[in-house]
Amino acid sequence: MRRMQAALRRFPPEHGIRNMVKGRRLYEGKAKILYEGPEPGTLVVHFKDDATAFNGEKFEVIEGKGVLNNRISEFIFRRLGEMGIPTHFIKRLNMREQLVKRVEIIPLEVIVRNIAAGSISKRLGIEEGKRLPRAIVEFCYKNDDLGDPLVAEEHINAFGWASPQEVDDMVHLALRTNDILSGLFAGIGIRLVDFKLEFGREFLPDGMVRTVLADEISPDSCRLWDMKTEEKLDKDRFRRDLGGLVDAYTEVARRLGIINGDGRNGGNPGPKLVKG
Ligand code: TMP
Repeated sequence: MRRMQAALRRFPPEHGIRNMVKGRRLYEGKAKILYEGPEPGTLVVHFKDDATAFNGEKFEVIEGKGVLNNRISEFIFRRLGEMGIPTHFIKRLNMREQLVKRVEIIPLEVIVRNIAAGSISKRLGIEEGKRLPRAIVEFCYKNDDLGDPLVAEEHINAFGWASPQEVDDMVHLALRTNDILSGLFAGIGIRLVDFKLEFGREFLPDGMVRTVLADEISPDSCRLWDMKTEEKLDKDRFRRDLGGLVDAYTEVARRLGIINGDGRNGGNPGPKLVKG
């Protein structure tokens, strides 16, 4: 509880500083709000403290979550960018907001799984925690009314949600992202069980279109298990009523080197390797 209170002091719900001029509010999702950016072709993403699960049926405001996800997602997108993954990320603006390129979101959720958990365990009767024979990429159609159903490439092609080239790009980028992030998290004693990505179309000045990683990558969109204790350090703490979500996300940020051990804003020295 003391740690929780400290986290709240650290991350006041509203920052009020360096709040750059945003344009019109374009869209409010379950965990984020999108505004027009200061220049054409840009957006400001605001990370809310709202937590939802089961397509919005379960809802809670968890103070500090938005700030932590903004920081963790920034860190991961920067790392991926350095490793040659094209992303929409431009820069973090303040505690809750980041500036991104405006892309046309492909209406698919791309899930990569290394270990069985969640819906694949239910669907295929695989015990949670069992390592899968290889990384598995799944596509879900982004549609809240339908509960984001699992779809096959056949549906994606037939309904024109993405071109065959885009599907290839997404699978390739998702598997590369998996390699990079599995290594990054393993180095800090965390197992990357699964995660969800979203992609967008970036329209380049020369008339070309490229597939780029968009949305966020945070403990809201990943399953992260401590390698030693198997403790869940992700949104399953909320989905499964385990409590301690802010402490878990703070621990992920601390191990990534984003914040200091005492929770203060670190100089971003990078992840600290865990031995053994
Ligand atoms: P699932 O096992 O419930 O299908 O979730 C797989 C991964 O995708 C897990 O890391 C959580 C993430 N996810 C989201 O980011 N958004 C969602 O709406 C859902 C259902 C899962």
